[in-house]
Amino acid sequence: MIEGICHSWANKYIFAHSDAADLDRKLAAIGPDRPKLVAFAVYSMNSDIAPIAELCAVAEAHGAMTYLDEVHAVGLYGPRGGGIAERDGLSHRLNVVEGTLAKAFGVIGGYIAASAALCDFIRGFASGFIFTTPLPPAVSAGAINQTRQIAQPLRCSPHGNVSPTVEHYLVRGRRFSKMQNCAQFPRPPSISAPPARPPDYSRTWCRLARARVGRPNPACHVC
Ligand SMILES: Cc1ncc(COP(=O)(O)O)c(C=O)c1O
Repeated sequence: MIEGICHSWANKYIFAHSDAADLDRKLAAIGPDRPKLVAFAVYSMNSDIAPIAELCAVAEAHGAMTYLDEVHAVGLYGPRGGGIAERDGLSHRLNVVEGTLAKAFGVIGGYIAASAALCDFIRGFASGFIFTTPLPPAVSAGAINQTRQIAQPLRCSPHGNVSPTVEHYLVRGRRFSKMQNCAQFPRPPSISAPPARPPDYSRTWCRLARARVGRPNPACHVC
């Protein structure tokens, strides 16, 4: 995304985190005649999820294209691991969905899902793509295999109709969450709306690290 922003030479505007009203104001100020692409995500740092439907509605009202970074959701959410947009039936409202073949897929590399024309454009214009050595065959084979595993036919489970691999991940994920709770590991809630003020977990992490090591970290700027 960042490469794309830099190489496009387009102006970049930052709207308040997951704030549809602020996005609306910013898009209105840009005006209807300029092409626009609005990017949002399933966020890694606080594990919160952009209000996809709301942001798409604002983007649509201003004639802007939409780009969703689902790197932290593909393989885990949606009946076939397509991500939050698939889970919430919103894929058709997005122009680009970005995923990774690392993380849930366990390989390396990444992809975008978009129209054939848009993918072709990216293939031709993204920096270092056409003339850079692609993923080696063994890695590609691993990614294809994992994609097939994750997108197996759905079966009915306590988690709804999901593919067996997605169910496996969900079961393991819930077990891991329970272990984190037992260990009182601080976890921000997974939410779809921005918190009034992002929680600050740095002190808690410092306390846990201090308890584990038995002494304060002299280089720490927090505790
Ligand atoms: C929100 C988000 N997008 C994209 C990436 C890049 O993912 P990758 O390193 O698998 O390409 C990351 C990395 O963690 C991320 O947090």
